[in-house]
Amino acid sequence: MKTNYFTLITGASQGFGKALAIECAKREMNLFLIDLPGTGLNNLQEFLKQNFGIKVYSFSIDLSSTEDCKELVKFIHHQKIELKYLINNAGVLSKGFFHEVDLKYYLKQIEVNICAPTLLIKLFYDQLKRNAPSGILNVSSMASYFSLPTKQVYGATKAYLYSLSRSLNLEFKSEDIWVSIVCPGGMNTNPYMCYKNRTMGWFAKLSIMDPEEVAAITMDAFLERKEVIIPGTVNKFYLALGKLIPQSVRDSITTKEMNRFRAAGLSVG
Ligand SMILES: NC(=O)c1ccc[n+]([C@@H]2O[C@H](COP(=O)([O-])OP(=O)(O)OC[C@H]3O[C@@H](n4cnc5c(N)ncnc54)[C@H](OP(=O)(O)O)[C@@H]3O)[C@@H](O)[C@H]2O)c1
Repeated sequence: MKTNYFTLITGASQGFGKALAIECAKREMNLFLIDLPGTGLNNLQEFLKQNFGIKVYSFSIDLSSTEDCKELVKFIHHQKIELKYLINNAGVLSKGFFHEVDLKYYLKQIEVNICAPTLLIKLFYDQLKRNAPSGILNVSSMASYFSLPTKQVYGATKAYLYSLSRSLNLEFKSEDIWVSIVCPGGMNTNPYMCYKNRTMGWFAKLSIMDPEEVAAITMDAFLERKEVIIPGTVNKFYLALGKLIPQSVRDSITTKEMNRFRAAGLSVG
């Protein structure tokens, strides 16, 4: 797929974003990678350039800042970089019980998980339209389908992305821009997630996947223009089961998981 177009990925320095960047590089897609300042994206940039023969730019910004996002757009226009794909991956993960987590944390979570993707889609819309057929991939979560203690605000931000993506996919169809949403289950992306995932019960643990595997499934499905991407058979099974069993049984399962989380002392204030 060698072209002069670029794919922008937010939150690319680690975890799922890094795995998506490598999957794109394998498909010879030029990359424009975003991370927070000082997180070592340069190493990944060099690695991808040398090993896959693609063009890679990196840019450090705080996505919770509207001004930073506007600077990014200015830079892209100035460098005459043409985007064909936009991947909104960066996200602030869940942290603990509502009363224990600082309000500032939730406001940042809303800014990064909701405001930034909305803003980037708005700011890059004209470019994506010009370069159509083009695509937007938003990273949601299985948490968008369930009511989960300790993932209250997180789950709500992911449900927003799910709803936004499906509506935009209909709206942008006439412009030949498709919008996909991926809803991964648990992934061992960073030390906190690895530890947290280990505290889960056997039933929930079955769904844990490596970010590399999820990224490969996601990129294949995204490039095939699939609207809703649920990686992994177990996650698909959970969704189907969730529709069949009564709410009271679902609530009792999630309460058990919440108690494990509490027992592991993972709640961070
Ligand atoms: N891990 C899971 O189990 C799981 C499950 C379902 C969905 N997801 C979703 O997958 C995506 C990636 O998650 P992950 O587990 O890979 O998380 P992660 O390891 O914490 O990585 C998050 C990425 O987002 C970036 N980021 C966070 N705040 C930012 C900000 N203010 N400005 C710019 N970049 C920012 C981080 O940049 P820096 O590296 O520069 O800090 C990092 O690259 C998220 O949207 C998450 O909700 C994860």
